[in-house]
Amino acid sequence: MVLASAEGGRPPSPPEELERLHARVRACTLCGLHATRTQAVPGSGRVPAEVMIVGEAPGFNEDVKGLPFVGPAGRLLDTLLRQIGLSREEVYITNVLKCRPPQNRDPLPHEAEACLPYLRLQFKLVQPKAVLVLGRHALERMLPGVGPISRVHGQIFVRSGVAFMPCYHPAAALHNAALLDDLQKDFDRVREYLDQLLRGEPAAAEPAPPTTDPEPPPEAEQLSLI
Ligand code: URA
Repeated sequence: MVLASAEGGRPPSPPEELERLHARVRACTLCGLHATRTQAVPGSGRVPAEVMIVGEAPGFNEDVKGLPFVGPAGRLLDTLLRQIGLSREEVYITNVLKCRPPQNRDPLPHEAEACLPYLRLQFKLVQPKAVLVLGRHALERMLPGVGPISRVHGQIFVRSGVAFMPCYHPAAALHNAALLDDLQKDFDRVREYLDQLLRGEPAAAEPAPPTTDPEPPPEAEQLSLI
């Protein structure tokens, strides 16, 4: 996917490129979800940004408003960000799927595959230092094969110098209050990591625990972000 250059020959600035990309997402018909959405939800926030947040897919509120994480899970996300000294305006927020699946069902593999080029372009424009991977669906798409969210949340996976940090999805913590403490600790870990970067300390992954998970399927490999 190539984005057109700006008028007058000047290369578009990252915010301009992002706005064009958002416009393409709003007009997207690459999978069947365009037929059932109210509107697509490309993403929100600044570019470039140190922190990129990737959730699963828009829900009811997001589909109505055209913005990511604006329902109950979004309010919890705002609180968690505030607790670690970040605001929505300082980060870039998007989802694996840009359109709401009917009745908020799980994303289907071909839908995630159709949407992935948008996520890749967003990642290139945002140039994050840390990516918060919210929930098992984003984890499956962005870090295929690393293990279940229940085991890898709070760990850091460095890929090409970028820290990918899986966290429980805020919606999961709304349904199961026992996860809230873990989610807060995961966000504290994000803060620690960003402070480490501010001090100029190099990105270092935590040693991965031994895994007994099966090899990821080839399809999942193809969907990884970088
Ligand atoms: N859940 C998500 O994964 N994304 C949203 O935008 C809202 C709820």
